[in-house]
Amino acid sequence: MKVKYIEEQIENIKADIELIVVVNKDLDHTFVKDYKDRLKEIGFEGAQAQVALLSESKKLFVGANSLKNLDIRDAIATATRYILDKSYKSIKVATYQNYEGCSFTLRAMTEAFILGAYQFNRYKSKAKKAKLKEILISKTSYQYKPFDKDVANRAIKKGKKVANSVNFVRNIVNTPPNDFYPKIMARVAKDIAKEHNLECEILDKKAIEQENMHALLAVSRASSKKPKVIHLAYKPKNPKAVVSIVGKGLTYDSGGLSLKPSEHMLTMKLDKSGASAVLGILKAVSELNLDVEVHGFIGAVENMIGGNAYKPDDVLKTKSGKTIEVKNTDAEGRIVLADMLTFAQERVEADYIFDIATLTGACVVALGQYTTGVMGNNEELAQKMVEYTNQSSGELASYLPFNNLLKKTLKSDIADISNISNTRYGGAITAGLFLSEFIEEKNKDKWLHLDIAGPAFVNHSWLENPVGASGAGVRAVVKFIEKLTSTTHK
Ligand code: BES
Ligand code: ZN
Ligand code: ZN
Repeated sequence: MKVKYIEEQIENIKADIELIVVVNKDLDHTFVKDYKDRLKEIGFEGAQAQVALLSESKKLFVGANSLKNLDIRDAIATATRYILDKSYKSIKVATYQNYEGCSFTLRAMTEAFILGAYQFNRYKSKAKKAKLKEILISKTSYQYKPFDKDVANRAIKKGKKVANSVNFVRNIVNTPPNDFYPKIMARVAKDIAKEHNLECEILDKKAIEQENMHALLAVSRASSKKPKVIHLAYKPKNPKAVVSIVGKGLTYDSGGLSLKPSEHMLTMKLDKSGASAVLGILKAVSELNLDVEVHGFIGAVENMIGGNAYKPDDVLKTKSGKTIEVKNTDAEGRIVLADMLTFAQERVEADYIFDIATLTGACVVALGQYTTGVMGNNEELAQKMVEYTNQSSGELASYLPFNNLLKKTLKSDIADISNISNTRYGGAITAGLFLSEFIEEKNKDKWLHLDIAGPAFVNHSWLENPVGASGAGVRAVVKFIEKLTSTTHK
C-alpha cells in the first residue's frame, strides 16, 4: 500500500474515492454539509467508526468521536477494511490534526490505512486480491492551517515504517506451526539482519547446552524441532541509551504433558508473538534510524509431548543457577524466559530490559483482550510505558502491581521456586513475579515485563487490527524507544 502526501488542494487530486472523517457528529462541517441530507436519509449519524459509502458522489464517510489517537485510528482503519474488497484503487483524504500542528494525527492516519488494509491470505488458493493500492493525503486541512510539506512527509514516512513492521510481525504470527518453527524464526532473524545491517548470532542446540540453558532445553526436548536462541543487535554510532528486548518464542504451545484442552490449544501458534514483536521492533528501529542501541533476544522453542518430555515434578537447573520445580508444563513461557533473561543480562549491560510474552491467560481475564499488562519492580518506569503506549502508539496498556504476598505463592518445597503459584488468583502478576526472580539485583529497576496474551491474537477485528495476529508490542516499544531519543540519557 502506497501512502503519499500531495501538496495540493483535495479537489485537484484525482482518486477513485474521497474519504471524509465526520468528527464529533458534525454534519455541518464544510466537508460534509452538502451530503448531510443524503447521509441522514441512510441513517448515518457519524457515530464512532460508522461507515457510509455514497458511491454516486464518490465519497466515503466515517465517524470519529474525536481526533484523538485511538478514535482516528479506529475510524480510518474501519473505513479502509470496508473499502478493501470494493473496486476502488485509490483514496484521497484531507489532513486532520488533533491540535494545531499535531503531526501525530497524520502518522496515526498513515498507520491506520496500512494496518487496516492488512490481509493474510497466503494459504487461500483463490484469494480475493484487494484492489486498493494508493492513499493520497492532501494538504487541505479539516481545521487549522495546512502542514509544512516536510513535517507532513516525515510523519507519513515514520508511520509507514512502523506499520509495515507491524504487518511483518502479523505475517509471522499468523503463519501456521507446520511452516513456522524455531529454525524458521532463526532464518527470518538472519534475513532481517542482512537487510538492515544488524549483528546476528544464532545458537543451535549444542551452543545452547554450552550456555547451560537447561530450563529452556527441557521445555523444547519433546519436540522434533530443535530450539534456537537468537541475538540481534542494532548499534547506531552515538546511542542515547541501550535497550534489551527479550521475546517469548514458543512457535507452538501444546501445553506439554499438562496438555491443553483442544479448544485452548487452537490458536497456540500465537505463542511466538513476543519473539515476533522483537523482530518487528528491530526492523522498525533500524529503519527509523533511531539513535538508541537495541538488542533483541529470542528463545525459539516448541512445547510438545513425547517419551522424553519434561514433566510435572521435574526440577530444572536454570542458567542462573536457580532451580525451578515444574508443577505444570503449560507454564513453559516463564521457564524459557528465565534462561533468556539471564542470557540477555550476561550479554549486554542495558539501560532498559523489556520482555514481551504471551505469558498468561490470567492477563486476558484481568485486562480484557485488547490490553497489554505492564509489570515490574519500577512503578515509575512501568507507568511511563503505559502512558506512552496509551497516548499515541495505537496500542493499549495497563499497569499490574506486584506485591510480596503474591510473591510467597511461588514457594517450592524442594526447589528455589515453583513454576506456578499455589493460588489461581492474580496469575498474570505471579507470572511476572516469577520472571522478576531472574532479574539481577542491579537490573531490578531497569526491567519491565509486557504480557501481550490478550492483544497479540484476537478472533475479531478491533481498532486497526484484523482477525488473528495484531503485531502487539511493536508500536508500544518503538514509541518508548523513540521517547528515549528525545531525552538525553545518563
Ligand atoms: N501461552 C500460554 C498463555 C496464553 C493463554 C496466551 C491464552 C494467550 C492466550 C501460556 O504458556 C500458558 O499456558 N499459561 C498458563 C499458565 C498456567 C498453567 C499457570 C495459563 O495461562 O493458563
Ligand atoms: Zn503454556
Ligand atoms: Zn505459552
